[in-house]
Amino acid sequence: MADPSQDATVASWVRQHGTLARFDLEIALCHILDCSRAHLLTHPDRALNQPELAQLERWSDQLYKHVPIAYLCGNQEFWGLSLTVDHRVLVPRPDTETLVEQTLACMAQQDPSPSTGTALRLLDLGTGSGAIALALASERPDADVHACDCSLDSLAVARENSRSLRLPVTLHHSDWFDNISQRYDLIVSNPPYIAPSDPHLDLLGAEPAHALVADDNGLADLRTICEQAGRFLQTNGWLLLEHGFDQAEAVRSLLSNNGFIDVQSRRDLGGNERVTWGQKPSDQALSAHE
Ligand SMILES: C[S@@+](CC[C@H](N)C(=O)[O-])C[C@H]1O[C@@H](n2cnc3c(N)ncnc32)[C@H](O)[C@@H]1O
Repeated sequence: MADPSQDATVASWVRQHGTLARFDLEIALCHILDCSRAHLLTHPDRALNQPELAQLERWSDQLYKHVPIAYLCGNQEFWGLSLTVDHRVLVPRPDTETLVEQTLACMAQQDPSPSTGTALRLLDLGTGSGAIALALASERPDADVHACDCSLDSLAVARENSRSLRLPVTLHHSDWFDNISQRYDLIVSNPPYIAPSDPHLDLLGAEPAHALVADDNGLADLRTICEQAGRFLQTNGWLLLEHGFDQAEAVRSLLSNNGFIDVQSRRDLGGNERVTWGQKPSDQALSAHE
């Protein structure tokens, strides 16, 4: 009987799955053939043997079901760090690097900590894989980095990443601020912000719903955080938030209405206003506002 893998090559397999993202196919090939992307591109006629083809077909079946390639490989690069990821956590997105960049800019303005004169203390709310907290810890080893999540599964992944990357982060199991007792110089969050009715959710079904969906047209968690963060920030501390491409105006209002000053937004790599932040005035000014 003819061997079905007889004529299969890198190029023919990519052609066969032309409706899938080319980038995902190349990552799958690099991972399964254990080669670089440069090797792949220069050897399109590399033959695929039966075990390789079988594994590639298993992975392409998953890709057609919108399982992220990062779950299949088990890792995702973020801010130059290789993070372990699986179905327990959101796959960190490149756009979230904009939030990291802005947080670093705010940290640079705050040195040294106005509150203690010692290390800046920051909290990443809803840390998932730990992406934001670990990126910040890698850039600012002098900072005291904390992170929380309501999901114990997510915290297990974040803990594993913190350990394997040797980047210390203090983890808290907390429903937003419920188990947080300290004050911070910066609070940063990429909370769930997709409306339950958003049609894009159909393509995101493999990722945990608790990482993606928020009531009130996607604004419920952003609102909770804006309402509560003031009590957990030092005077002059910053709250920085990632949000949907069409939510910047709403988030600016949430921050201003909760007493934050110097409220601004910044665009992501795709040109959308994606990150909004504000500064906490003195407690007195904040309580006068309440
Ligand atoms: C959009 S994901 C962001 C994950 C990660 N920070 C990132 O940027 O890749 C939102 C995260 O918030 C967490 N989360 C959702 N509701 C929460 C809550 N009430 N309290 C704490 N964390 C929550 C989810 O478990 C998830 O890890």
